[in-house]
Amino acid sequence: MTSAVKKTIEITPLLLEEVDLIMPIENSCHAYPSSLKNLSSSFSKRYYNFKMTLEGKLIGFYMAELVLDEMTLHNICVSPSLQGKGYGKKLFEHFLDSARAHKVVQLWLEVRESNAPAIALYQNSGFDVAGTRRDYYPSAKGREDALLMGSMLFYD
Ligand SMILES: CC(C)(COP(=O)(O)OP(=O)(O)OC[C@H]1O[C@@H](n2cnc3c(N)ncnc32)[C@H](O)[C@@H]1OP(=O)(O)O)[C@@H](O)C(=O)NCCC(=O)NCCS
Repeated sequence: MTSAVKKTIEITPLLLEEVDLIMPIENSCHAYPSSLKNLSSSFSKRYYNFKMTLEGKLIGFYMAELVLDEMTLHNICVSPSLQGKGYGKKLFEHFLDSARAHKVVQLWLEVRESNAPAIALYQNSGFDVAGTRRDYYPSAKGREDALLMGSMLFYD
């Protein structure tokens, strides 16, 4: 008889001193990755940054910022070889739980209009397109628009 082995997934705070560890994932996930300096600037009291490990190995992260009752997801990445297996959804749900825990009312994020997997993930979690930021991102063709997506959270 075979039994399924459940892999250990952990989502824990990403610390400033660990930011260099996420750079290989950042660099392999984005055609125009953020620099170490840029990511390092996103660690202070208002940032909620988490990493995901699988069997102790770093496989993904997200970075979010809380301002008053609004939270913005600045980055979310899963190692390319492990994408499409549900890890991104787990990370995104953690982001939503973190927002609920802080009684956040409005969630925001920006995404390349060509990024179909990410857009599907966000739409399946209740996000809608609220607008377009023209030529927001660099791209192989010059510039690419960003979709500004938002979702509201409600409480009893
Ligand atoms: C976006 C990202 C974090 C999603 O992580 P993932 O582990 O691949 O996603 P999951 O396997 O958990 O899938 C979650 C949902 O994403 C969508 N999705 C994932 N891969 C998809 C694909 N190839 N095509 C369309 N939708 C896809 C689906 O809606 C899926 O939900 P479902 O399985 O219930 O249908 C990951 O693709 C990634 O790191 N991309 C590169 C970095 C990036 O673009 N980040 C977003 C910046 S805004």
